[in-house]
Amino acid sequence: MSAEYERLKKCLSCIREKTDFVPKTAIVLGSGLGALADEIDIACEVDYHDIDGFPIPTVSGHKGRFIFGYIGKIPVVIMQGRVHYYEGYSMRDVVLPIRLMRMMGGKILFLTNAAGGVNPSFAAGDFMLIRDQISNFLPSPLIGENVCELGVRFPDMSEIYDKRLSSTVKDVAKELGIPLREGVYVQLSGPNYESPQEVKMCRLLGGDAVGMSTACEAIAAVHCGFKVCGISCITNLACGITDAPLSHKEVSESAARVAPLFKKLITESVIKTANLKG
Ligand code: HPA
Repeated sequence: MSAEYERLKKCLSCIREKTDFVPKTAIVLGSGLGALADEIDIACEVDYHDIDGFPIPTVSGHKGRFIFGYIGKIPVVIMQGRVHYYEGYSMRDVVLPIRLMRMMGGKILFLTNAAGGVNPSFAAGDFMLIRDQISNFLPSPLIGENVCELGVRFPDMSEIYDKRLSSTVKDVAKELGIPLREGVYVQLSGPNYESPQEVKMCRLLGGDAVGMSTACEAIAAVHCGFKVCGISCITNLACGITDAPLSHKEVSESAARVAPLFKKLITESVIKTANLKG
C-alpha cells in the first residue's frame, strides 16, 4: 500500500469513528463563501483538528471543519475551510482532503473560490464557471509515489471540468436569472497578489481569472475519479486592470456581499447535477 494511502485510511477511520455518512457530492467553499453551510440540513460536523494528520487552515476567514448533511435530499459533505500551498503545506497535504472526500464515497466535486478577474470585461461580484485551468506555475499534486489505489500514474486532463456538470450549472444559472461568465482559471502560488505585469501574462496565456487554490485540487480530484465542477466568485478585478490596490479584507467583503446569490446557484446546481442519470 502506498504511504499516502495509508495516511488517508487513518484519516478516514477518524471520521468513521464519528459518522458513517456517505456523501454523493463534495463541496469546497472558498474565502468568504462559507455561508452556504447555513443551507444544509446538518447531520454531523467533524472539526479538522479531530482528524489525525489532517492539514489545518491558518488563514482568517477559513474555518476548519467538514459538514455532513443534506441539500434537498442529496447527501453532501462540505469543506468549510481549505489549506493552500502558500501556507507552507506540501501539495500532497493540500489535496489530502479532496482524496479523503472521494474515499468517503463522494462522486461529484464542486470547487469554489474567490478569484481576481483578469478578463477586462469581468466585474467584481461576477460568477465564473471554470471551463479549463492553468496550473503549471505550481508543482503538480501528483508528484511523488503514485497513490495507485486512487488513480493511474499519468492521468488524462483533457476534460478536468466535466462538460455535463458544467452545462447543468449553466442551465440552473439561466433558470435562476443569475449571470454566469465562463473562463479559464489560473492558479498562482500567492500569498502575495499579482503584479500588473503578472496579470497581463495571465491574460496573454488565455486566463480569465486568477487565484491561489482550486487547480491543484481539480487535478487530484480527476486523478481519483471525481467528476468536477468549478465556480469562481470574482471578488475584484486583478491588479493593473484597475488602479485600486487589493486587500484580503476587500476580497472577503466582496465574497460576503454576493454570498446569498452564490448560495442559490450552488444549492440548485448540487441538486440538479446529483439527479443526472448515469
Ligand atoms: N489574485 C489572486 N487571488 C485572488 C484575487 C486576486 O486578485 N482575488 C481573490 N483571490
